[in-house]
Amino acid sequence: MAGKLIDGHGRAASYLRVSVTDRCNLLCRYCASKERTFIPHDDILRYEEITEVIEVARRIGIDKVRFTGGEPFVRKGFADYLEQIGARFPDLTLAVTTNATVIGKHIDRLAVSGLSRVNISLDTMDRDRYRHMTGRDLFDVVLENVRRCVDAGMTVKVNAVGVRGFNDDELPAFVEFARQNPVDVRFIEFMPIGTDTGWNESSVWTSKDIVREAGELADLAPAERGADAGPANMFAIRDGKGRIGVISPYTNHFCGTCNRLRLTSEGNLRTCLFSDKVFHLRKIIRHPTLDSGVLERVIRGALRSKPIGNDLLLARSRGGVCSTKMASIGG
Ligand code: 5AD
Repeated sequence: MAGKLIDGHGRAASYLRVSVTDRCNLLCRYCASKERTFIPHDDILRYEEITEVIEVARRIGIDKVRFTGGEPFVRKGFADYLEQIGARFPDLTLAVTTNATVIGKHIDRLAVSGLSRVNISLDTMDRDRYRHMTGRDLFDVVLENVRRCVDAGMTVKVNAVGVRGFNDDELPAFVEFARQNPVDVRFIEFMPIGTDTGWNESSVWTSKDIVREAGELADLAPAERGADAGPANMFAIRDGKGRIGVISPYTNHFCGTCNRLRLTSEGNLRTCLFSDKVFHLRKIIRHPTLDSGVLERVIRGALRSKPIGNDLLLARSRGGVCSTKMASIGG
């Protein structure tokens, strides 16, 4: 079997998100929870096993892989693994989503080994609030690492989940940050993923509101959408080094152009963030006689049933749309 992987809605899958661990050193309520149980170590895919999936994914048209967690850099050997993947798949676009708390010592070598894109999750510009929300006093470390990633030449995006009543009063600080630093600051609408996250309709700070409110603080101009533009709508800031943008999974779904597949750390393939349906790849990978051709067939089959997530969102808009919290899916 060869050729691009086209799903049941005519979409091509070109982007794989790989969660390498469900562990995180932060405890943000909307994403993780104190009571959560962790996946037993033996059930987490070994690095070689993840590589097997990436090999197959390459064959079916995946050209970009983003590693996520939990927090990917809390997994032992992750920086080495990234380096290895960069060397093994030189034409793969490699990206990481990280909270940037423990990335510091790896930045310089990762920059030279092919890691060109780093998305840094940072939901507040206030040190006390950061400590309160994450449980760790690491705000200054994160800011320092944002700067160091920029200095190392990486494309840096700062992602903040926009939550009404939590960080909407900080828009001026975020805009100022984007003005002073050559980074894209992007607000992601708060999604009803997982239970007990504090989500309710009124906690969603909509993209529309964010853009309007930011427009009152700075002179914004819609940025052109490049060929590899993701789902974010970006705006240049007059006299600013960086840009500000919004991602609207809640109010303006981008299911029609969704090119993503997700691999969880325990080896489950998810075709949609809003669906609990998973395909168990680990048992195929670890099966003594099944080969990568079987893996490929299962991934192709999964893609055929990739849903339109917004339908699921609407159908289940009361309560969480999917019962697993972000921390164990990987964002
Ligand atoms: N809604 C929107 N974004 C979320 N994230 C985690 N949970 C949610 C949610 N319910 C974000 C993290 C990180 C990315 C991986 O996903 O803050 O930026």
